[in-house]
Amino acid sequence: MQRNIWCGLKLSAIIFILLLDLTCTRQIALLIIDVQNCFLPGGSLAVTEGDQVIPVINNIRSEYKADISLVVLSQDWHCSDHISFASQHKGAGQVIQLSYDKSGSLCDENNSCTEVAYNLTQHLWPDHCVINTPSANFSHNLTHEPSDLVVRKGYNCKVDSYSAFYDNGGFRHTELHDKLKEAGIDALIITGLARDYCVYYTAMASKTLGYETYVVLDATRPVTKETGDSAVADMKSKGNIKC
Ligand SMILES: *[C@@H]1O[C@H](CO)[C@@H](O)[C@H](O)[C@H]1NC(C)=O
Ligand SMILES: *[C@@H]1O[C@H](CO)[C@@H](O)[C@H](O)[C@H]1NC(C)=O
Ligand SMILES: *[C@@H]1O[C@H](CO)[C@@H](O)[C@H](O)[C@H]1NC(C)=O
Ligand SMILES: *[C@@H]1O[C@H](CO)[C@@H](O)[C@H](O)[C@H]1NC(C)=O
Ligand SMILES: [Zn+2]
Repeated sequence: MQRNIWCGLKLSAIIFILLLDLTCTRQIALLIIDVQNCFLPGGSLAVTEGDQVIPVINNIRSEYKADISLVVLSQDWHCSDHISFASQHKGAGQVIQLSYDKSGSLCDENNSCTEVAYNLTQHLWPDHCVINTPSANFSHNLTHEPSDLVVRKGYNCKVDSYSAFYDNGGFRHTELHDKLKEAGIDALIITGLARDYCVYYTAMASKTLGYETYVVLDATRPVTKETGDSAVADMKSKGNIKC
């Protein structure tokens, strides 16, 4: 079966498409990416209008409860001196290059790699979503049920993780793929923050891993319009999306 990323459709249209194909019974999971205080208005890395995704996501949950087998909330969960924090790189620009050895260990003053296996471009961010701080909590306004699966990412201090599936070097996977397979999930509806980073990387990973992938644009907001637009264009071209 062809696995596509569908993006920009209203959710009702997506559900219609899913239900239309009666020859293939799909198990659908709703993925809610990083709807945490740090990314909402008032947070240290606030996404403009980030709070406006919350009622849309809550509505998807309640309206399509019968069609959604599993709800997953991802949670950005960083060490207080995380490598992605600009505060850890005084004097650096907005973007730096990080080098890792073949085991995925950062090459720095404590690990002079004999051979660099990976260079990663790292965008530097304000301190955000630090482990066990209120900033890392999900918004109180987001519907959250005990049966939801919570997947934390970015807790390795030396490598960032935009995707909820694996870190930016692809060194280590989270439990997400295994849990989805266990639940027999084959289609993902992706929502949350931010459209141009964690939603985008999660959607691309989802497609790579073989899930039928849907991104609900009204349930996402970008950090900047430009990167948001290019993320959508990229998801469309690589995913053969019909919007
Ligand atoms: C290197 O190790 C020392 C001692 O453990 C530590 O204090 C320092 O922060 C480390 N440097 C980096 C860049 O991690
Ligand atoms: C990593 O970057 C360095 C310098 O920027 C370059 O010399 C090296 O070839 C790159 N290594 C890889 C694996 O891309
Ligand atoms: C943040 O979430 C944790 C775990 O769910 C909870 O114990 C704590 O009270 C929350 N903190 C705030 C400020 O809401
Ligand atoms: C939750 O929703 C209420 C009512 O819409 C709003 O006043 C409040 O600011 C929201 N809080 C958060 C944390 O989004
Ligand atoms: Zn982060």
